[in-house]
Amino acid sequence: MDLDHILRVAVRAAYESADVLRSRWKQLSSIDSKGPNDLVTDADIAAEKAIIRTIRSAYPQHGIIAEESGPQPGASDERWIVDPLDGTVNYAHQVPFYAVSIAFARADSVLAGVVLNPVSGELFTAQAGKGALLNGEPIGVSPEIRIADSLLATGFPYDRSHGFDAMADRLLRCLKASRGIRRFGSAALDLCFVACGRFAGYWEDRLQPWDMAAGALIVREAGGRTTDFSNRPLKPDGREILATNGRIHTDLLDLMGGRTR
Ligand code: IPD
Ligand code: CA
Ligand code: CA
Repeated sequence: MDLDHILRVAVRAAYESADVLRSRWKQLSSIDSKGPNDLVTDADIAAEKAIIRTIRSAYPQHGIIAEESGPQPGASDERWIVDPLDGTVNYAHQVPFYAVSIAFARADSVLAGVVLNPVSGELFTAQAGKGALLNGEPIGVSPEIRIADSLLATGFPYDRSHGFDAMADRLLRCLKASRGIRRFGSAALDLCFVACGRFAGYWEDRLQPWDMAAGALIVREAGGRTTDFSNRPLKPDGREILATNGRIHTDLLDLMGGRTR
């Protein structure tokens, strides 16, 4: 398995997706809803097609799990996990903050990940065991050891039919204890911002594998820690993530769970 080549294919596919997204910026021909607040545009679909074409031409035997077209099983346990446009609500409302996220996994292990911000040009990449890079330069998580000194980030689920009060309580506790909380609207970039030390921690519930597979690897390879809200390792079909610089992980877990130390 040539992971360098896999990463090159992922980067190429991410730039192709970014070209599609830039060319359709402010020119959407359709915005549909998959559920309350959960949008899909013609840009999501066209960008995903570009990514799948690139992966298929390099690795026709691999499986692909892509947000808009669902799972396409492959001949082996190697698969790509693709979000062509992370931040569709931002994109549809002309907020220039969104990303392309592509991960490669074998069995349950994510081995390579790419997150590209087409607006800023920031390209985050990681390979298992080889560290994380931003535009080719090594990155690392932030040094904070106290939540009071930490800038945090989170996201809110599209489906607000249940669990909203618990989420609001958690948010309030973390807001009171930290330097501040950002909600930028792209889980993949939130994770990368933890990886490069801009945020000390980020959590979100009810995510999908394509929102976090690449970003979570990038956090771990940058020296950070990723778990679910019960401090267990992430599972491929897990829906929640807490990603931190490692140093504030336990304190943040306690705070989120309403425990004081
Ligand atoms: C969404 C973004 C957002 C997060 C949502 C995700 P999408 O992805 O990552 O930040 O809060 O939960 O679904 O739908 O724009 O690909
Ligand atoms: Ca997403
Ligand atoms: Ca998406």
